[in-house]
Amino acid sequence: MINLLLDVDTGIDDALALFYLADAQKQGLLKILGSTTVGGNVEVAQTTLNTLKVWEMLELEIPVASGAESPLQAPLNAAPFVHGDDGLGNTFLTPPKRLPVDESAADMILRLSHEYSGELTLLTTAPLTNIAVALLRDPDLADRIRKLVIMGGAVFTGNVTAVAEANIANDPEAARIVFRSGMEMTLVGLDVTHEVYWEEADLEPLININNERSAFLLQIIRFISGAYESLSGWRRCVLHDPLAAGVCLFPDLVKTEKRYVDVELNGELTRGMTVVDRRGRTPLGEDNMQVALEVDAERFKKQLMQSLLVWVQEG
Ligand code: BDR
Ligand code: CA
Repeated sequence: MINLLLDVDTGIDDALALFYLADAQKQGLLKILGSTTVGGNVEVAQTTLNTLKVWEMLELEIPVASGAESPLQAPLNAAPFVHGDDGLGNTFLTPPKRLPVDESAADMILRLSHEYSGELTLLTTAPLTNIAVALLRDPDLADRIRKLVIMGGAVFTGNVTAVAEANIANDPEAARIVFRSGMEMTLVGLDVTHEVYWEEADLEPLININNERSAFLLQIIRFISGAYESLSGWRRCVLHDPLAAGVCLFPDLVKTEKRYVDVELNGELTRGMTVVDRRGRTPLGEDNMQVALEVDAERFKKQLMQSLLVWVQEG
């Protein structure tokens, strides 16, 4: 059984990851112990509301601890043009009934790492600020985490810049602290997430069920597909965060290489770039994480759609 703590900036694809994980929990594949939020796609106040709201839609009472408002050193570079002003495709849902818990994100991370020492899996689908704050307070945290799965970075590409991915670019200093922490890590970056996307034709199973739940999912998926089309020319919903969630459960969805990875902090053109040393002989440092390079996209897309359909059909 996987004991999971999520760190999210909910966000359309974060929300889809929550739906996927909720279904996995129903199947007894994992237990979601808590969720922490951070500023990223939108401000942290909104990512917190969105996380609470998605758990409410799923009828789950998973605690939500609010975290960092802004990155360690630089201002937050949010992306409402990708995720909507409300972070959920301008669906402007009614506010959630529950409140965040009276514990900060870093406190929740540290507490659960003690309660589940050696057995806690962390999944981050957001800038790494909260994990870095927790590590700065207690570097031994790294030894108590079973595994950290990170949606972030890339070997060969970028999205917010030519070489940097949004979650890492939003807080490169935090990413460096995490990458150098000694934690057991898997990096699920753009090299694999860009292979896993839905286009309009993939949405047919949702379109065929005409109810409020399918309408909500179609609205957020189509919103982000439209944003992606204006940025890249392809009308697609890229399944970044859901794939990282999938890798927590089924590591064999991706093929990885263990490599030394660090983050560029200063480059005029390269700040936030993940530098992955793939040289055999003289790496910059000791291999510190598994880096995903290939993915079974069809297998994962089916899994994700199936989990959404379970929720939609119950509605
Ligand atoms: C990542 O950035 C955010 O926009 C998404 O939610 C995802 O976590 C992709 O680069
Ligand atoms: Ca995210």
